Amino acid sequence: MRRKIVAGNWKMNGDIEFANKFCADLRKRLSGSRMACDVMVAPPAPYLSIMSDAFSDADVTLVAQNVAEYAGGAYTGEVSAAMLKDFGCRAALIGHSERRTLFAESDERVVEKMSRLLEQGIAPILCVGESLEERESGNAKDVVGAQVDFVLSRFSAEQLSNLVIAYEPVWAIGTGKTASPEQAQEMHAHIRNVVAQADTNLSDGMSVLYGGSVNAATAKELFAQPDIDGGLVGGASLKVEDFYAICQSF
Ligand code: PGA
Repeated sequence: MRRKIVAGNWKMNGDIEFANKFCADLRKRLSGSRMACDVMVAPPAPYLSIMSDAFSDADVTLVAQNVAEYAGGAYTGEVSAAMLKDFGCRAALIGHSERRTLFAESDERVVEKMSRLLEQGIAPILCVGESLEERESGNAKDVVGAQVDFVLSRFSAEQLSNLVIAYEPVWAIGTGKTASPEQAQEMHAHIRNVVAQADTNLSDGMSVLYGGSVNAATAKELFAQPDIDGGLVGGASLKVEDFYAICQSF
């Protein structure tokens, strides 16, 4: 059985008061609830320690939004995979479209980042997705397939065993425009096929999440699709009630 996952990505939002309140409210919500999915939260790096103090590994998986492509040294402003591990991060986003477009995160850099994460035993959540232009010109599957393939071809099946893929169409991120469940399912099935070409056991067991304006109203139908194993949630993950409702949408 593939793991069901809902991961909240705060992006560069929140402050210390918000982080403390979020943790307290989410703890209250989760206590005594049986969750049908793994709950993951990716706060900004300075708030990782608040989260790791507030939750045990069993409640919430702590996720980093980014990681340095270097192991350590003179890289001002960067945070290494070993540092993330120190704070109890068990997963990290790589290749988010905001990083790809605003911070020039190329496929090559994504591979380096993934290597650093694997060295520390941190699970990579690889984000892929096409732009509106690429979708409208009929190239969405090729673009996404190439992003996945570039990374897969550089690692062994064993190294890829903890990889999670998040399909996030760029035109749906933060726009309020969710991909339809049919559009999302079609791309998820394609991603699984691309992974199957590398290794069928891997594709059967790999969780593929959908991201892009997921909210409590759209999550259920998206998560009911056979190849959608959960969501990567931005805006709606900032409200505990909405985030919790999305986590209960299986
Ligand atoms: P959104 O962001 O849910 O606000 O569209 C998703 C993401 O970028 O991970």
